Amino acid sequence: MTEAIAPVERIADAHRDIPGGLMPALHAVQEALGHVPEEAVAVLAQAFNRSRAEVHGVLTYYHFFRREAPGRTVVQVCRAESCQACGGEDLLARAEALLGCKAHETRADGAVTLEPVYCLGLCASSPALQIDDKLHARVTPEKLERLLAGVGSAQ
Ligand code: FES
Repeated sequence: MTEAIAPVERIADAHRDIPGGLMPALHAVQEALGHVPEEAVAVLAQAFNRSRAEVHGVLTYYHFFRREAPGRTVVQVCRAESCQACGGEDLLARAEALLGCKAHETRADGAVTLEPVYCLGLCASSPALQIDDKLHARVTPEKLERLLAGVGSAQ
């Protein structure tokens, strides 16, 4: 096991006796590592007495979970109904153009990952997006340009 995967053991130990603990454990792994690496699947499968295929099935069913390390900045654009009705699709297309990477992708320089997500809880203030941990509501094309200025630039 690599050192990078060490937190998974601690997370598995902390959740193994909790009913339905696999989901919170997966969330905790992603919180700790930024994604859920393949090596974590075996650790979690053993901890929760599941097959690797079962854990893998849960992991791939939910789009929220990343299987690859994200870029240094993560931009999430809401594509759920309310945001879609308020220009969410155009917002995502503009974000792709401004950031230079497609949805579901990390730019080649590793600076930014662009992810579509399904509801950020700001439906009454659509369209919405999130940049790392910060939520933004009522995102107009102009506001998007301001928000993304500097995102993914050389650090
Ligand atoms: S639909 Fe976009 S925040 Fe809920």
